[in-house]
Amino acid sequence: MPNIVVVGTQWGDEGKGKIVDLLAERADYIVRYQGGHNAGHTIIYKGDVCVLHLIPSGIFHPGKICVIGNGVVVDPAALLAEISEIERRGVSVRGSLFVSDRAHLILPYHRAIERESEKHKGARKIGTTGRGIGPAYADKVARIGIRMADLMEPKLFRDRLATNIDEMNEFLRQIFKVKGFELDAMYKEYCGHADRLRPLVTDTTVLLNDAIDRGKSLLFEGAQATHLDVDFGTYPYVTSSSASAGGACIGTGVGPTRIDAVLGVAKAYTTRVGSGPFPTELNNAQGQELQAAGREFGATTGRPRRCGWFDAVLVRTAARVNGLTGLVITKLDVLDRCREIRFCTGYRLHGMGGKIATEMPASMTALESCQPVYETLPGWLVPTTQIRTYAKLPKAARTYLEAVERAVGCPIELVSTGSKREETIERAPRAAARRRRATPVSSNRITTRAARKAAG
Ligand code: IMP
Repeated sequence: MPNIVVVGTQWGDEGKGKIVDLLAERADYIVRYQGGHNAGHTIIYKGDVCVLHLIPSGIFHPGKICVIGNGVVVDPAALLAEISEIERRGVSVRGSLFVSDRAHLILPYHRAIERESEKHKGARKIGTTGRGIGPAYADKVARIGIRMADLMEPKLFRDRLATNIDEMNEFLRQIFKVKGFELDAMYKEYCGHADRLRPLVTDTTVLLNDAIDRGKSLLFEGAQATHLDVDFGTYPYVTSSSASAGGACIGTGVGPTRIDAVLGVAKAYTTRVGSGPFPTELNNAQGQELQAAGREFGATTGRPRRCGWFDAVLVRTAARVNGLTGLVITKLDVLDRCREIRFCTGYRLHGMGGKIATEMPASMTALESCQPVYETLPGWLVPTTQIRTYAKLPKAARTYLEAVERAVGCPIELVSTGSKREETIERAPRAAARRRRATPVSSNRITTRAARKAAG
């Protein structure tokens, strides 16, 4: 298998976990490159449910190597808890899980700062997962972060921790009027974590590049998604890392010339957790139906997900900024009971003489006030979960998928119709290559025309 990056094309929770789990069988290394334990996917292992937040899902595949790259922020306590959960199921991580010595740590003061800052923002809060992700990345960029390598050196770790706790406590007391942290207790606790993590910590840039030199294949598992990316997402309602495909290079030390393909995962509709603009959101019975049928509740926080129609503007942008070579559509079965299905091809911008945008505006004002322009197609009203080949899908389902494919400008390679591995339809690779040539990601001529037509 070539070296592939799997990325989310919407606002997360697209079902990347299942796709990574499927592809992990054919890969040798499964690598996380950004985010932290804000991510979450549910794995069924020997009939038992296990939710993974940091460790790649390949851990349950015998003989695979799982890597947490330098771009990930690691909460040592959360990582150790996850390791214990895995080992409780009889799977050892020794020799199959490695953590970058350059990965930055999430420490208790990061969570405290985030909690207070979110409270302070009131209605404008980001709606984070509360894991301390943002403050940990902020420290990294401010050059006061503490890395795995630093945790492995007790004296250096204590010095850095002392300086940071001093500064963080001052901040927490003066600005937020809350209690700070005690150095000795935190130092002791984290030295205990260091001892347990030591065998896993290594220079993963060497590990991964050596693996490629030996002809091994790497699967890069993106967390969150393109529109939560700190550069390309709906800023400031984003996460604090590079969740798009480019992050795979920065977050692992594997150069762009060594990556062969980028697979974008999109739900057949759209969901979002937390605050921020969502043009196709359905605040009505239809939205509730999608939420119930898709069981749209967060795997990490349990929060209900906001639901809406598929947004081709969103996914087309993702196709471009990730350089997608193929698209995976998940949860098609959730639409089985819809009489008609809509998908958005453009945004009518407020107060701009009816101007229709076919690209994501950077302006939050424009995005918050725009009206989606929809195309409507008939539903298929038959169950799709048991269908195993593309040709056997109802004609209306194929029409919908092909309309989405044209609007996004990227060939669909896989369609998922349920949570189980076998509930997946693979399209013939040769046909996909033909479609790829016919629908270049960088071109939006077709979609722009479609949006204009839909807008009348
Ligand atoms: P943070 O990553 O905890 O800082 O949260 C920032 C934003 O990203 C919030 O809107 C979260 O709900 C969202 N977010 C973070 N991780 C995920 C995820 O794995 N799936 C969906 N949304 C996420």
